[in-house]
Amino acid sequence: MPDKILLGLESSCDDTAAAVLRGREILSSVVMGQTELHAAFGGVVPEIAARAHAEKLDLAVEQAVAQAGISLQDVDAVAVTAGPGLIGGVLSGVMMAKGLAAGLGKPFVGVNHLAGHALTPRLTDGLSYPYLMLLVSGGHCQFLIVRGAQDFTRLGGTIDDAPGEAFDKTARLLGLPQPGGPSVEATAVGADERRFAFPRPLLDREGCDLSFSGLKTALLRLRDRLVEAQGGLHEADRADLCAGFQAAVRDVLREKTRRALALYLAEAPAEPAFAIAGGVAANQAIRAALETLCVEHGVRFTAPPLRLCTDNAAMIAYAGSELLAAGETSDMALSARPRWPL
Ligand code: KG4
Ligand code: ZN
Repeated sequence: MPDKILLGLESSCDDTAAAVLRGREILSSVVMGQTELHAAFGGVVPEIAARAHAEKLDLAVEQAVAQAGISLQDVDAVAVTAGPGLIGGVLSGVMMAKGLAAGLGKPFVGVNHLAGHALTPRLTDGLSYPYLMLLVSGGHCQFLIVRGAQDFTRLGGTIDDAPGEAFDKTARLLGLPQPGGPSVEATAVGADERRFAFPRPLLDREGCDLSFSGLKTALLRLRDRLVEAQGGLHEADRADLCAGFQAAVRDVLREKTRRALALYLAEAPAEPAFAIAGGVAANQAIRAALETLCVEHGVRFTAPPLRLCTDNAAMIAYAGSELLAAGETSDMALSARPRWPL
């Protein structure tokens, strides 16, 4: 039987995305960002996001289908993010999927956005279940054992900020450009990570939960002390602060990953594998630390390419294909869910 052609739609935050998959082959993946629409407001404005999704979804679908070199009639099924997310955007996507499916006379299926992220290593690296996943971005930070398309065990996660958010705040406090992750990483190169004492939050507490808000407070205090003492920040101060902060995030993620790996390996998985995904996975220091840890434990280390780690519709189409293969479909009663834990 030939691989099914899936059209995926994603509109749960500030990216309007559509993608076409044939089996695990990505025929197209269109992502239309809205950064400039929200820039003046210092964050995503739900009302503006919803309107932009409503305006752009049809264009995204048209482009995805054209770039895939197919016609809309070739689509075998439609997969759509049905939550969690900003409800206006999710609603636009769900309504579009229902319309397309009804018009084409093809099935459609609602997908959990987080499941889309969590299943991406199967799309990109063909991992088999169960694998351990660290989702680490500007909005998320959690450890999951991924056992099936709808079967996840959450081992722990952040109790306050996500690490990407902490990188962004650090950059802001030091007058470095956004997004903060890449600029903090670049500034930290060659600097002294031990000059300033940053805490290692929650290492004294059992389990896999994490906390990052204390690092931001520590940075603020260190910065203010330097400014007071010397009237400003020198280049070297900025670099050492970035290096110290990044080392703290790295150490915390490494230790919590070690604990998560222990829980995962206790189940004796047949093909032990670990995947890191999300914007922060781009950080070389963090990535290298976790890769080394995996090698030490005899666990395969994978990291999907960044364009598939950040919000996109290929991951939604892929998750949809697994759901459909398991006999799941949605009907016109499918509703958009602002909250939808895995
Ligand atoms: O996954 P993502 O693109 O978006 C969501 O959070 O949904 O992640 C973006 C986050 C930002 O906070 C950004 O600063 C962070 O990932 N990031 C990094 C790096 N590149 C991006 N953090 C640390 N080091 C990096 N090289
Ligand atoms: Zn996301």
